[in-house]
Amino acid sequence: MKKTLFVLITAMVLVFAFAATAMANTSSGTITWSAAAPNNSPATPHKGYAYNTQKCLVCHAVHKASPTGQVLLGDTVANACNYCHVSTTGVSTVHVYNNDPATFATDTVFNHSNKCTACHAVHGADTVNQPDLSAKILKDPTAASAEFQIESLPSNWDVTSEGTDRAGALSAFCTACHPYFTGTYADSDADGNVTGSSGVGGPYNSHIMTSDFASYDPANGATATGIQVAWASSAYCTSCHDSGADTVADNFPHLTSGARFMKSAEYAGAAATAAASPTQDGVCLKCHRGSADTGVQFDF
Ligand code: HEC
Ligand code: HEC
Ligand code: HEC
Ligand code: HEC
Ligand code: HEC
Ligand code: HEC
Repeated sequence: MKKTLFVLITAMVLVFAFAATAMANTSSGTITWSAAAPNNSPATPHKGYAYNTQKCLVCHAVHKASPTGQVLLGDTVANACNYCHVSTTGVSTVHVYNNDPATFATDTVFNHSNKCTACHAVHGADTVNQPDLSAKILKDPTAASAEFQIESLPSNWDVTSEGTDRAGALSAFCTACHPYFTGTYADSDADGNVTGSSGVGGPYNSHIMTSDFASYDPANGATATGIQVAWASSAYCTSCHDSGADTVADNFPHLTSGARFMKSAEYAGAAATAAASPTQDGVCLKCHRGSADTGVQFDF
């Protein structure tokens, strides 16, 4: 009797051992991200795929995907990034939206609430490759697939791997969705659309984007000429939309403490605070006053 029981138990142990071995080799579920070789050139799950790297299954499962997920992911595409970038336990070292998915689920003046994959190409294809931005997997606004095609971007807004101007490349990226903020005067074609684009409303004049502000030489009907009216460059989107730093709490252009990603100050160089409203005067005074008593209201 005892012997039979022993044989039975041994048999069962063996069965479970084989089962466990088989389970350990199962890879049709998702796997844990490893930044070690060969996954390290570059060490991101978003590009650098080779025959021997192990990246696809970090996000997708082939047979055992969640029935409530999309494209074989554990969750919807809209929530596909939370697990690593919008949670305190995420495997990535880089986190956004204050680690709280609720902060991008609702539209406020402090965030971009459109989904991550509208701006980021998760597999790193057709991205802005300006060297300082190439890791950010941002969709290239000049790619054929871009929402709007702007023909005449400023020459320094170069999104290729040759581009030296980070802020310029970033500005170009923004115009993929916000095209009518690109230009200066009379920024419209005969068709009423923004110069070089199709299908977006105009005509509008948008605030001039220039670093040449020593002497005001308006082409647009102002009475003042030859004087200084601005004390800081407006050359980039981030010249004005200047709130947010690369920290979890305050991260441009995801969620920042400033309304419409802006800071507000009494004059150029004065202490700036997050703008409580996009229409408060400090968002203009930070450039149109040179000190506490020069500039708009004092000199012009
Ligand atoms: C970091 C997570 C992640 C990794 C790693 C990843 N994917 Fe994806 N994959 C996604 C997401 C998110 C989508 C949905 C993309 C979208 O809707 O824009 C997607 C979509 C897809 C699609 C559907 C087409 C599309 O673009 O929507 C295919 C096919 C695909 N992935 C294959 C792969 C393969 C093959 C690999 C490895 C070489 C891989 N993925 C690695 C997250 C990932
Ligand atoms: C499985 C975890 C995982 C998922 C899911 C994931 N990522 Fe990542 N992501 C990483 C890792 C790891 C890196 C490399 C940076 C690091 O070491 O943390 C990275 C890097 C990035 C970077 C560049 C960060 C930098 O400054 O270098 C961006 C942008 C990014 N991911 C966006 C996304 C988006 C958008 C999604 C969803 C479509 C997504 N990621 C889904 C793990 C993930
Ligand atoms: C993929 C398209 C897309 C890109 C690229 C994009 N945006 Fe937006 N942006 C939107 C949409 C859609 C809204 C309105 C809904 C929202 O706030 O999410 C918006 C809203 C805004 C707002 C108003 C915020 C608010 O809700 O009050 C500002 C300011 C802004 N974007 C600036 C930028 C800047 C600067 C960049 C470049 C870093 C940029 N956007 C890139 C689509 C885009
Ligand atoms: C409107 C466009 C837009 C949307 C929507 C967006 N991002 Fe980004 N993201 C950017 C831009 C632009 C950068 C680069 C900012 C810079 O480095 O100046 C960036 C950078 C990042 C980085 C790197 C941050 C760092 O500090 O280096 C991560 C991670 C990231 N995004 C993840 C996400 C995730 C996750 C979502 C959705 C929950 C998302 N992004 C939605 C435009 C966007
Ligand atoms: C000279 C400063 C300045 C520059 C440069 C600038 N903006 Fe703005 N932008 C503002 C101010 C101020 C507001 C808020 C105005 C309001 O709420 O009526 C704003 C609002 C916006 C809005 C939201 C309101 C709307 O009309 O949809 C978007 C989107 C936007 N800017 C995108 C951009 C982009 C993209 C760039 C770069 C290509 C850019 N801006 C360059 C000052 C600027
Ligand atoms: C980041 C700096 C900056 C901010 C913020 C800024 N401006 Fe300007 N602004 C400039 C520069 C630079 C010029 C060009 C001055 C020159 O040509 O000498 C200018 C020019 C102007 C002009 C003359 C434009 C023309 O067509 O002749 C007006 C009007 C103006 N700004 C209004 C505003 C208002 C209103 C705000 C706030 C909503 C604002 N600016 C915010 C930098 C800025």
